[in-house]
Formats: sequence, structure tokens, C-alpha cells
Amino acid sequence: MDIAVIGTGHVGLVTGACFADLGNKVICVDKNEETINNLNKGIVPFYEPGLKEIITKNTKNNRLAFTTDIKEAVLNSLIIFITVGTPTKYNGESNLVYVEKVTAQIAEIINSYRLIVEKSTVPVETGIWVKHTIKLKASKNVVFDVASNPEFLSEGNAINDFMKPDRIVIGVENEKSEKLLKELYTPLNAPIIVTDTNSAELIKHASNSFLATKISFINSVAEICEKTNADIEKVSKGMGLDSRIGKKFLKAGIGYGGSCFPKDVKAFIHIAKKKGFNFDILEAVSEVNKKCQENFLKKIKDNLWIIEDKNIAVWGLSFKPGTDDIREAPSISIIKKLLDEKAHIKAYDPQVSEKQFKNSIDGKIEFFDNIYDTINNSDCLLILTEWNDFKEVDLKKVKSLLNQPLIIDGRNIYDIEKMQNLGFTYISVGRPTVNKKVDYNNNQIFSTNNKENI
Ligand code: UDX
Repeated sequence: MDIAVIGTGHVGLVTGACFADLGNKVICVDKNEETINNLNKGIVPFYEPGLKEIITKNTKNNRLAFTTDIKEAVLNSLIIFITVGTPTKYNGESNLVYVEKVTAQIAEIINSYRLIVEKSTVPVETGIWVKHTIKLKASKNVVFDVASNPEFLSEGNAINDFMKPDRIVIGVENEKSEKLLKELYTPLNAPIIVTDTNSAELIKHASNSFLATKISFINSVAEICEKTNADIEKVSKGMGLDSRIGKKFLKAGIGYGGSCFPKDVKAFIHIAKKKGFNFDILEAVSEVNKKCQENFLKKIKDNLWIIEDKNIAVWGLSFKPGTDDIREAPSISIIKKLLDEKAHIKAYDPQVSEKQFKNSIDGKIEFFDNIYDTINNSDCLLILTEWNDFKEVDLKKVKSLLNQPLIIDGRNIYDIEKMQNLGFTYISVGRPTVNKKVDYNNNQIFSTNNKENI
């Protein structure tokens, strides 16, 4: 099929490349000339495992092209995907200005039947407005349909998420659009849920908000674990083995970030309020998430005492491993607060570039491309993203380079007992600082490395 994808961000680029890989002819459009020129040179604007290869392969076999000319793309396609950004406004509302702009452009270009599909994450009833805009702007005798086809791509795993989806959601208004989208997605051999456009839009907001709710829930339980010397990793494991709960998205940490959860939770709260419903649970989810970073900062202060002039090593800046994306990353708010207190930050991330990160904070930090250089003469080490690189480091060397053996881990990547035996003060999330075993004979609680009552 001939497809146009309007917007070459994380969603548009993965969608276009994967549709091309499935045998379709795809034209990806973006108004950013530099992005398009780079893509035509094989330069991908962000890190996503496997994306560069799949783009190179499909541009080589002429199934995938990049242009700034939306007219060329729309006139040569039957299905047009809208994958532009829907950033958050100051009040949490989705900013749909780019969706409307692109919709109006498409309307003015189409001269015969097209299926226009919103794939950007949008509030419920956006599809109705897309249809209304096209009716208003397109020439009178043009026939078109509008559909909703939300994406469920997580960064760092996006190609896999596209090619092996749990489900495909298509919100359509008639059989013709349903047939077209079913034909397009058949090669993926995945369950296809057919709904109206409003329900499809709600599936997306509700799914992301539910996943964010799971994260804020487990982070709340982690706080109770800290007050009762319980271990959130064990609690989470015990919960997740219940098939009704499921083990995914039950990892306690320093809160969710990224370009989706924070934005989608706020947008869902906003549209619900607009429709007369106060989404109290999601308000709480968002509040709990903010508190995760405050709790982590308190751990730093409780263990460093004075922050000013301290050298603080930071491992991990991206909002999660597998990506160089720092949008809404907890690292930004944590590092900003430490800079406000005049700490010296020495940062390392396997993918995030110095330029990228410095644009997001208005303070000076030292960037290193060697992980051990960050800890040399540092007063503590913070772990903010659970990159695998950090799990394999030489901890004895880490201890020898630090001014004091203090690690504050926001992602629980190390084993408590191992850290204790190495002589670290190891502070993590929702877990005891020392490994305790209950002596089942006389029911005492002992630390594992010294047999005294505590
Ligand atoms: C998410 C959804 O997973 C995806 O389906 C949707 O299309 C886009 O938004 P993404 O934001 O890329 O994907 O990352 P995800 O893996 O969902 O993680 C989001 C945030 O939650 C990250 O900051 C991550 O660190 C955090 N997280 C995730 C936790 O803190 N604990 C968990 O158990 C899982």
C-alpha cells in the first residue's frame, strides 16, 4: 500500500520504517529540513535500537523516502498517518496545534479518496475535530475517512513493539476504513480490536495512565517498605506472580519520565475534567510521581549532610535504559535541585550527549565518556537510570576511587548483601540498607555481617 507518515519523531519514524519493512511504499514527511536532509543521508535524529538499520535497508530498496513536501506525500498515498507531537500545555492540556495544522494541510491537498489516520496520542473526540476540519477545508466533492490507530511503542523496544504488538487498535467509522487498516496490519498477525474513534483514543490514554498508576502504586508501597524494613523487590515479585496483577511495571524507582506517561496522565486528567469528571486517582498518580524525586533528594541530603561543594557522580541521564531521550527524565529535576544547592555534578550516560543534556538544565555539569572518571574524588555516586553497563562495573574499583563508599541507587540495580559485604553504604528504593535475616530459632532480627541485635 502507498502510505504517508506526517511527522518523523519517535512514533512517525518507527511507524514509517516498519510499514516499509512490511512491503509498503512509505513517504515520511517533516517540516524540519535538517531532520529530512539527515534522514536522506542515513542519519537518524535519536537513538532507537535497530532503527538505523531498518531505515537504511528500506531506503535502499526504495520502499522508504523522506521529504519536506507534504503535497507530494499526500498525493502519492492512500493512507495518511498523522504522527506529529502533542506536547503538554501549562495546564496539562494536550497542545493539538500541530495536529490541526497538518490536518488542514492534508485537507487542502486531497483530490480523491484518502484514509486519514491519527496515530499521535490525542484526547478523546480529537478524531471528530479532524473530520470536521477536513470537511471544512477540503474541496466539496472529495470523499475521505478518518480513523484512530494509537501506537503502543515503548522507547528502546519500539521496533519489537511495532512488529510484535499485543494488539492493534483501530477506531473506524465504516467498513471501508476497517478493511483498509486490517489489510495493512494483516502481516503482523496480531489481535485487531475494532472500535469507534472515541473508544480507540480512550484505549491509548487509559492504557498509558494505567501503567503509570502501577508505577506510582509500587513506588508508594516502596515508601511503606522503607518504614518497615521490608524489601520492595520481594513485595513486587510476590505481587507480580499473581496473573491478575502481572509482573511488569511494578519496578520501584525514582518515578516515571519520558515523553508519554507524564504528558498522557496530565492530558487524561484535563480532558476528563473538561467532560465533568475529576480523575482523582490520576491526580494522585501524578503527585506520587513528583514525590519520588523529592524522596530521592532527601536520601542524598540525609547521607551527604552538606550538598554545597560536594562532588556528586551521576550515572544515567536518560529517562530509561535503551534510549537517549531525556524528556521528563527524573535526572533533570534531581540534577537541577543539586545544582541549586551548589553541588558539582560529574555525569555519565552511555547514550545521552553532553549537548543534549546541557540544553535541558541551566547549570554547569561535568560530562565524562569514561564511567570511572566520574567517581574519581567524588563524595557519592547516584544511579538514576538502570543501564546494564552499570550492573557490570568493577565495584572494588568504584570503592577505591570514591572519597567515601556511598552509593544512592534510584533503580535498585545492585544486591544489598553484596554491597554490604563490599563495605558500601548502599541506599536504594524500598529496601533495607543492610541485609537482614530473621533467625528463625529465636525469632531475632540480625544483620548478616555482624551477629548483634539491631
Ligand atoms: C510508554 C508506554 O510503555 C508505551 O506503550 C507508549 O506507547 C509510550 O509510553 P515509554 O514512555 O517509551 O513507553 O517507556 P516505558 O518503558 O513505558 O517507561 C516509562 C517510564 O516508566 C520510564 O521512566 C521508566 O523508568 C518508568 N518505569 C517503567 C518504572 O519506573 N517502573 C516500571 O516498572 C516500568
